[in-house]
Amino acid sequence: MSRYFYHDVLIIGSGVAGLSLALSLSRNGRIAVLSKYSMQQGASFYAQGGIAAVIDPDDSVEAHVNDTLSAGAGLCDEQAVRFTVENSRAGIEWLVEQGVEFTRREHKDDYHLTQEGGHSHRRILHAADATGKVVIEALIDNVLQHPHIDIYENHLAIDLITDQNRCVGAYVLDHQSGQVDTYQARFVVLATGGASKVYLYTSNPDGASGDGIAMAWRAGCRVANMEFNQFHPTCLYHPQAKSFLLTEALRGEGAYLRLPDGERFMPRFDERAELAPRDIVARAIDHEMKRLGSDCVFLDISHRPREFIEQHFPTVMNGCAQFGLDITKEPIPVVPAAHYSCGGIMIDQHGHTDLASLYAIGETTFTGLHGANRMASNSLLECIVYAKSACQHIEASWASVPKPAQAPLWDESQVTDSDENVVISHNWDELRRFMWDYVGIVRTNKRLQRALNRVDLLQKEIAEYYGNFKVSNDLIELRNLAQVAELIIHSAMLRKESRGLHYTLDYPELLPQANNTILTPPMCEADQ
Ligand code: FAD
Ligand code: SIN
Repeated sequence: MSRYFYHDVLIIGSGVAGLSLALSLSRNGRIAVLSKYSMQQGASFYAQGGIAAVIDPDDSVEAHVNDTLSAGAGLCDEQAVRFTVENSRAGIEWLVEQGVEFTRREHKDDYHLTQEGGHSHRRILHAADATGKVVIEALIDNVLQHPHIDIYENHLAIDLITDQNRCVGAYVLDHQSGQVDTYQARFVVLATGGASKVYLYTSNPDGASGDGIAMAWRAGCRVANMEFNQFHPTCLYHPQAKSFLLTEALRGEGAYLRLPDGERFMPRFDERAELAPRDIVARAIDHEMKRLGSDCVFLDISHRPREFIEQHFPTVMNGCAQFGLDITKEPIPVVPAAHYSCGGIMIDQHGHTDLASLYAIGETTFTGLHGANRMASNSLLECIVYAKSACQHIEASWASVPKPAQAPLWDESQVTDSDENVVISHNWDELRRFMWDYVGIVRTNKRLQRALNRVDLLQKEIAEYYGNFKVSNDLIELRNLAQVAELIIHSAMLRKESRGLHYTLDYPELLPQANNTILTPPMCEADQ
């Protein structure tokens, strides 16, 4: 039997963005936090490197802003960059208040700061190389004790409920009961993370299927810069390894990238060598792998002392050891993999979307911070800063936003149980494979057109399946991935230049004017 729930605030997503918002709200109302799997299963939990913030007295807001603008290849919104960086110290202080313990310098009181690609200073706060785990565990401890927060794990939001241009809730599949329930709220927040699962190889956990982007798009919100999907240069290359990242902090602490014959190749591509921004490093690796016909390149930190590696990179060291690799003695085989969605749902500085009462925060959004390429460790920072500003806006609107009228319950009277789940698994596979082959690190017009033809066909099949059968987790995620793939391909087709993470052989040059790619539903009006 389908059920009805009402809260003041419905937060869809329990990563750093969603939990930070839930814990920041201080009004006397009920808050629901939904997580489609357990609370530990978002990208946040797996973050290794850390959180960028201006903490060191030799660093400055200006330097962090300039590094971000430069990594973003001319496409960042400087106001969003300043806003985020200026709030970085407060964000870190808030996390410390929540109980997060960042690594300190040996025998010193102050924090140990690492450096990553694109950063001109050491400014990354971290908890060894398990920053996300430490942050998420502290936030989970706090939400579990919070008297106003109700947690719903294994609950998957299917679609938003709207009423005359206002978002009033979501239909939610309860994995345990198999029922679709109705969740209504005065304020709804998408904190659903990114969409890197749209690619065959990714550093992301399974849930990164762009659900928030797809739901917001279907509800009528604009999305922007979807063509900029970041590929992390160094994920473990091993037949049994799934999504294991080798943090950029390794390169910050001196690791070299080498070819199979041992040559260190990055200095040939950029004067910053291994510490060039990610788009440059990932493209250089892709280029060398294609030139040599090799399956991978190698990341080598074996020249650093064993104790140093043990102390700073226990997660990486243990993770590699499980595959028989001793990183203190040998180079690690690595390949680039899809890592981060720079584009997403368009929001303003308060996290507000195009729909009344609908907010979005974290990786699911487009804030203008990242431009054409996100600088490492700016993303957890963005989650915290925008969670705070969304909180302020929701609290300021608290008294003026009424309880919505009750929406109709989910109707399953016209559908039956699925007859052939193989259709779903086949389409998942096909989608992620052609996105990797045709819409990956290097693109062409022809490849994009091929991808578009295939995604059109898949979407028709998925729509038919969705209309006839009961929903399941895999079907919902596939439907969202196909939607996001379509948005990525359309955005890539509209960009007639190579900028940041979007590189196409047909337009290798940079256009003099940098413009965002804004898509307005229904598909596909470009506002360039
Ligand atoms: P997530 O943490 O991904 O959380 C999304 C949440 O939404 C999950 O709880 C999920 O269950 C829920 N959800 C999604 N869809 C639905 C739905 N339909 N219904 C209900 N719930 C839903 N960034 C940095 O700044 N520093 C780093 O060191 C760093 N390292 C990284 C390492 C790895 C391996 C990865 C994958 C990413 C890394 N990033 C890093 C990026 C960063 O971790 C993410 O951008 C950030 O954690 C996103 O947080 P979020 O709260 O927006 O989403
Ligand atoms: C990493 O540790 O290399 C990931 C950092 C990030 O994605 O910001």
